[in-house]
Amino acid sequence: MQLTEDVPFQVLRKTWQPVGLSRDLAVGEALSYRLLDEEIVVVRFDGGLLAAPNACPHKGMRLSRGYLARGELVCAYHGWRFGPDGQCAGVPSLEDPPQRLLDKASLTTYDVQERYGMIWVKLDDDEAAPLPDVPEFEGAGDWEYLVAEPMVFQAGFRREIENYLDMTHFAFAHSDTLGAAADVTLPPLDITRYDDGFQMDADFPAQSEPGIEPTKLQSAHRRRQRCYLPNFTTIRQTFLDGDERMLVHIPSPNTREQCTVFWSLAQPADFDGPPLADQLDFSTQVLEEDRQMCENQVPREVPINPSRGGWGVLVAPGDTLANTFQKSFRGFLKEHMAAPEPAAS
Ligand code: FES
Ligand SMILES: [Fe+2]
Repeated sequence: MQLTEDVPFQVLRKTWQPVGLSRDLAVGEALSYRLLDEEIVVVRFDGGLLAAPNACPHKGMRLSRGYLARGELVCAYHGWRFGPDGQCAGVPSLEDPPQRLLDKASLTTYDVQERYGMIWVKLDDDEAAPLPDVPEFEGAGDWEYLVAEPMVFQAGFRREIENYLDMTHFAFAHSDTLGAAADVTLPPLDITRYDDGFQMDADFPAQSEPGIEPTKLQSAHRRRQRCYLPNFTTIRQTFLDGDERMLVHIPSPNTREQCTVFWSLAQPADFDGPPLADQLDFSTQVLEEDRQMCENQVPREVPINPSRGGWGVLVAPGDTLANTFQKSFRGFLKEHMAAPEPAAS
């Protein structure tokens, strides 16, 4: 089966993607977001969330410009009203609108859920992959969890995933933050494939320069990178003293050449190192350096077929993990893409 550049977005419609942070959407508010090339609106009603195309069925007015009144979403243009389930409840210019019209004017709704401090939307009824379970991001044990501000990358989401999986760029792209002490070669990588993705385990040495003690976050650790297809990737660091720390990146695709990176950090309350809040500025700066790399790669998205435009001149083990992602992602697409139309006889 041949993959085209349209297939990734067709299949990702069947997956959960973050579109905003829970803390940014109060009752009565609406947010708009471009997800997989489609503009959507999410509204918080008193009893829950509504996700729909951001266009009124009447004349296409953005519903995110509307407002909530008496438990209904009111379009800003001609005041058509919609309930929390998307049902059209009123057309002010008609005294007694027929039910048939109200049904026709109802919104197409999308599945929406809140988890990990984020609002997640799935555009298609089918589900190719559930949202992964990560207890550490939900207060398991005494873990603390901090959701960072999402960052927009003018780059395709697969560029960002490759960057997050790449471990040979630290000494160069992050020379200002991680320092030139970062090792340019990799320790042996132990890669395991799963039905829902893959995992890498490796022992990382301390990033130390002569005369300078590595900080806790630079110290030797075991690193576990877990990629849940299509685009939910965690890093778990286990330090020699037993302390652990986790990060997650989810580059939510806006267009083929732009994504919004949702990310967060977690660690136990008794972590013997900098508190989460104190790591935020540093981690944001590291991500900013990554953004510069992703936005300056040509083309802006990794081609879906290695033979068309290529994935570059690759080396092992440096590019092995990114390569594992691209191959696994292609497998995921083939598994979940629509069957081709039967040829007309
Ligand atoms: S465009 Fe929404 S009510 Fe007319
Ligand atoms: Fe990086």
